[in-house]
Amino acid sequence: MVTRVILAIISIAAVAQGQTDQTDQTNPLAVIPRPMKMEVPGGKFVLTKQSAILVTADTRSEGQYLARQLVAAAGLTLEVMGASERKDHAGCIVLRLSADRKDLGAEGYWLEVRKDRAIAEAPAPAGVFYACQTILQLPPPPVEGEKTSLAIPQVKIADAPRFPWRGLMLDTGRCYYHMDWLKRYIDLLARYKMNRFHWHLTERVGWRIEIRKYPELTRHGVHKTDADKKPLAGGKTAREYYTPGEIREILAYARNRRVMVIPEIEMPGHCGLAVGTYPKQLACEGVAGRLRGAHLVNRIFCAGKDTTFEFFEGVLGEVSDLFPAPWVHIGGDEPIMDAWKICPKCQARIKAENLKNVHGLYNYFIKRVEKILAKKGKRLYGWEEVARAGLSSGATIQSWHGIGPGLAAAKRGNDVVMSPSSHCYLDMSYGKVSVARSYSFEPMPANMPADKMRHILGVEAPMWMDRWRNWAQYRPRTGTLARVDYQVFPRLIALAEVGWSPKKLRDWDDFRRRLKAHGGRLGKMNVRYYRDPAVWGN
Ligand code: ACM
Repeated sequence: MVTRVILAIISIAAVAQGQTDQTDQTNPLAVIPRPMKMEVPGGKFVLTKQSAILVTADTRSEGQYLARQLVAAAGLTLEVMGASERKDHAGCIVLRLSADRKDLGAEGYWLEVRKDRAIAEAPAPAGVFYACQTILQLPPPPVEGEKTSLAIPQVKIADAPRFPWRGLMLDTGRCYYHMDWLKRYIDLLARYKMNRFHWHLTERVGWRIEIRKYPELTRHGVHKTDADKKPLAGGKTAREYYTPGEIREILAYARNRRVMVIPEIEMPGHCGLAVGTYPKQLACEGVAGRLRGAHLVNRIFCAGKDTTFEFFEGVLGEVSDLFPAPWVHIGGDEPIMDAWKICPKCQARIKAENLKNVHGLYNYFIKRVEKILAKKGKRLYGWEEVARAGLSSGATIQSWHGIGPGLAAAKRGNDVVMSPSSHCYLDMSYGKVSVARSYSFEPMPANMPADKMRHILGVEAPMWMDRWRNWAQYRPRTGTLARVDYQVFPRLIALAEVGWSPKKLRDWDDFRRRLKAHGGRLGKMNVRYYRDPAVWGN
C-alpha cells in the first residue's frame, strides 16, 4: 500500500512539473483536500447520457445530490436509480455502503474510477457524500452549456479525515446574512469536505434568532429602509433575523450536506442589545452615570439577578429544542466586568456564593449556564475564557489566543477546537494572515501527551464582521457578500485541507498547484476570492 501511495504521489508530482497556466486550469488531479491515499493509473471513464447513478435506499439522497451537482457544474443530466433496477452497471456511478470499509470511519470512503464505471463505497452515508465531492472535483473545471458526455480520470482513492471537526463561523450577529448566503456558504463548506457551521447569532448590535418567549429581542431587526437608509419600495419592511421556520430550513439544508449547525448565544458580554431590550430583567443596577460611558451598563448581563438565569432557561430551552447539535456555544469571550464591580445585586451574589471577586462571579455565571444546558441535554461550547470557570469534562473549548489555551484544556480532559487568530481568523488582512500561513497551521500541539490527542477535535475558521463595520454597517449592502467571499476564500480551502488531510501529505507547493486549478471552479460558483499572487501569479 505504501508503495502505491508513493507511486501516486510521484505521478501527481509528474503532472505538476512543467505545466503551463493552461494545463493548470484543466489538470484533473487537483482534489482538495488532498486524499489520504490516491493512485492515478491513467486513462479515463466517460459518462454519457446513458450513464446512471446507481444507489441503494441508504445512498439515494447522496445520488440525488450528485446528479443535481453534475447538472449545475457540468451540464450533464444522469438518472438516479436503484442498483437492482439495472443489470449492467457498466457506464454507471455506483454508490453503496459497505461494512468492509469500516476501517475508514464515519466520514471515510473508498472510490475507484475504472475504465467503464465508478464505484464509491463507505461504511456510512457521510463517506458516500464525500466520495461524491471527490467525483465532482475529478473532471476538468466546468464549461458552460449542456453536455452529452463527461470524461473522468481513473483513480483509486482511500480517504478519511484527520480531524472530525472542520468548521466555519459566520458572524450574523453583527451583519445579517440572507438565507441564500447561508445556504451558499453551507454548499461551499460541503464542497471542501467541511462539516461544521458555527452560527454566531447574537452580538452587542444584533439579536438574530426569534425567541418566542422574548419577542422584543428581534424587534430591532425590522427595517423600513434599506442599508443606505432609503425607504423600501412600496412602504415594505425588511426583516433581518431568523424565524424558527427559517432556522429549520437551514438545518435541513445543512443536514443534507453533512454539515452540523452549532448555534452561538453570546454571554455574559457582547450582549448590549438583549440587556438594553429587557433592562429590568437583565441589566446591572446603580451603574448609570457611574461608569465612563453609560452604555457600558449594557455590555454585560447582570449576574446578581435570578431573572437573568430565568432568561437563559427560556432562551437556551428554545435554542436547544430547535437545534439538534449536541453543543450550544455560549460565547464567554472578552467580558467587560466593570458594571459587576458596582452593581449591588452582583456584589450580593459574590458575598452569598462566597466568591472572591468579579472573576469568581464570571466562573459562577458560566457554571450555572452549563447546568442549564445539561438539563436540556446539551454540551457547553465556549471561547477559551470559559475554561477558567472549572467546567465539567463535557465542555468544549475554542482556543483563539494561539493554541496554548487549547493545549491546557485538552490536558485537563476537555475537548478542544483550534481557532488561533494568527492562522484561522478570516477577517484578518491577507498581509497579516496569508493563505500560506493559514495552510501552515498545525492543530495538534507538538507537546500534546499521546493520551490527550483525541481531545483536539479539529479546526474552525471564524469570519468576524466588526472589523468590516464601515462596509457592512451592520446591515448587508451591495458588496458585502463580495467582501466576505474575498476574506473567506481561498483561506478556508487551505484550512479545509489542514483539517482533513494527513499531516505528512501537506505540502504548500503541491497545494498551491491544486488551488490554482480551483480558480475556475470558484469562479463558476461566483465566489469572488482573493487571487493570491503566490498562487495565481501577478
Ligand atoms: C473573539 O475573537 N473575541 C473570540
